[in-house]
Amino acid sequence: MNSKNLKEKLKGKFIVLDGPDGAGKGTQLNLLTRTIESEGIETVNVVDPGGTDIGDKIRKLVKYGAVGIDVRAEVMLFMASRAQLVSEVIKPALEEGKTVLGDRFISSTCAYQGAGGFPIEQTLELGRLAVGKNWPNLTIILDLPPKIGRERTGVSRGKKVKNDYGQSHLFDSPTIDQFDSRTLEYHKKVRKIFLQLDGKYPGVVKSIDVSLDGIEKVSEKIKEIIIETDF
Ligand code: TMP
Repeated sequence: MNSKNLKEKLKGKFIVLDGPDGAGKGTQLNLLTRTIESEGIETVNVVDPGGTDIGDKIRKLVKYGAVGIDVRAEVMLFMASRAQLVSEVIKPALEEGKTVLGDRFISSTCAYQGAGGFPIEQTLELGRLAVGKNWPNLTIILDLPPKIGRERTGVSRGKKVKNDYGQSHLFDSPTIDQFDSRTLEYHKKVRKIFLQLDGKYPGVVKSIDVSLDGIEKVSEKIKEIIIETDF
């Protein structure tokens, strides 16, 4: 596919990278942004939860402050952050023909809160309320076993570095958010649900096994999916 065709294909499209913790979404999003922008395509990057003033407050709350939260309340907080992100950032960008690249989206609520007992159908229903028609055209799941993911993020070694807010003194285990600290069994369920989304979740869903490949190879596979898949 030449640059002109790729530009046409990606105009006004919403692409999300999602998957278990430690899969390297952030790194891959940076690489993908560089590749797409080098083709002269304007991109907007979003992180879910977060990405707006209101969303950033919700992000902080759900990751570090919501001890003992009921799973339904948790779902609604994620959806509230997302509704704000869509209305402030995603929808306007798509309407301007930009390509929106997302780090997580409703697919994460299906998987994480699904693993916590919240039914996927209800997540999709609430998702429709929260984001309207602004669902991703393509969701790429970066898949890996949670054990490897936890080794990569340092959770299994109890690694301590600064959290999202650079505040290493406010929490007992600064990088270990309330999702990291859930059991391996919980994270196995999360992974399983991610791999079952194809066919149930709006738009095209593809997954890539990232447990063996290095950063460059995974990045090539992501590019291949974007060029070769109709979405
Ligand atoms: P991250 O942005 O560092 O991946 O942290 C977000 C954490 O929140 C991650 O552990 C996954 C979790 N999460 C949910 O449980 N539900 C959601 O809908 C989203 C977007 C994230």
